[in-house]
Amino acid sequence: MRGVFPQFVARLILALIAGGSPRNVFAQSAPSEKVVGGPYVVNVGPRSATVMWVVQTGEAFLGTEPNKADKTAPVLRAQKTAFLGLKPGTIYYYQVFPGEAGKGSFKTPSDGEGRFQFVVYGDTRTRHDVHRTVINGILKYASPDFILHTGDLVADGNDPALWPIFFDAERELLRKAAFFPSLGNHEQNALSYFDFLNAKAYYSFNWGNAHFMVIDSDIENAAETKTQRDSFWQEQTRWLEDDLREAQKADFRFLFAHHPPMTAVKRRQGDNPHMTALEPMFEKYRLTAGFFGHDHNYQHYVQNGVHYFVTGGGGAPLYDVDTPPAGITSKVVSTENFMVVQVDGLTARFEARTPDGQILEDTELISEKAPRAQPH
Ligand SMILES: [Fe+2]
Repeated sequence: MRGVFPQFVARLILALIAGGSPRNVFAQSAPSEKVVGGPYVVNVGPRSATVMWVVQTGEAFLGTEPNKADKTAPVLRAQKTAFLGLKPGTIYYYQVFPGEAGKGSFKTPSDGEGRFQFVVYGDTRTRHDVHRTVINGILKYASPDFILHTGDLVADGNDPALWPIFFDAERELLRKAAFFPSLGNHEQNALSYFDFLNAKAYYSFNWGNAHFMVIDSDIENAAETKTQRDSFWQEQTRWLEDDLREAQKADFRFLFAHHPPMTAVKRRQGDNPHMTALEPMFEKYRLTAGFFGHDHNYQHYVQNGVHYFVTGGGGAPLYDVDTPPAGITSKVVSTENFMVVQVDGLTARFEARTPDGQILEDTELISEKAPRAQPH
């Protein structure tokens, strides 16, 4: 107690010098830390996981004159802790700060074949109410072991005010299932993305009998100069080819990226030649399916044995599907959506749903590893 009074007097004097009222300074000096994101779980493997949450430590002000606040920005800090020595295929319950809000659960991947479910969705930026509706739909119509986001989580990854809005909409989902993100162009390659999600630009992981690869298709924001961007793309492409080659024993190979190689949105056709150029590699290494975003709708193509899904209906304004590519189109719908993928041994079922549960398309695939029926 002895130190409190002199501290208050010192703040009072500083306030009077700065021209503020004693009441304001006292309010600002009160503890103001609050959790504005999470908890959520990232980097989940069979034996380890990282639990994270985001704390707002205060609010910063900025103006064109002293003591004039034209703009405010939350001051954010990502918190994380790692749990090691976990068991594969196990549900864990955690608590990372006091109270019900600090609790959550997640599942670690099993080693071998098995039954698991994941949800894919993307482009949650811009219309926050629609983002919430999509998350509520996932909570109601799916029970994912983990979730994958196809990018454009927020409208500008550098804007600190947007991340608490994203995490608030995602709260109930993220505390139930591990999160695997991918970079969209709206993330702007911002440090906040890597910091808040403990993420790498590209990475891969196994879940049961399936192999998952996530790449950064946002080549425009990947580096400052064209030479650096080209070198990033070459390095990532080499990594992807090595990773696909090494994953040939998996029963399913799934790829995730923001920009789709093809689209039914006429004004955007041909926009992503760097992704279209990867198609021969996908075919050579027998990719089961690629999942993309960027176009705010649902699209499904089958080309030379590879399935291409666009699931970018997480909240951003919808785009028309006016010109489906001939010969490869399975389904295109301009609506909010998410995908539920159920893997059961050598069978994978891909269900596209609207937030109110309507099934847009239901596709079943049998792994090439399954024994074929003998012709009579
Ligand atoms: Fe995008």
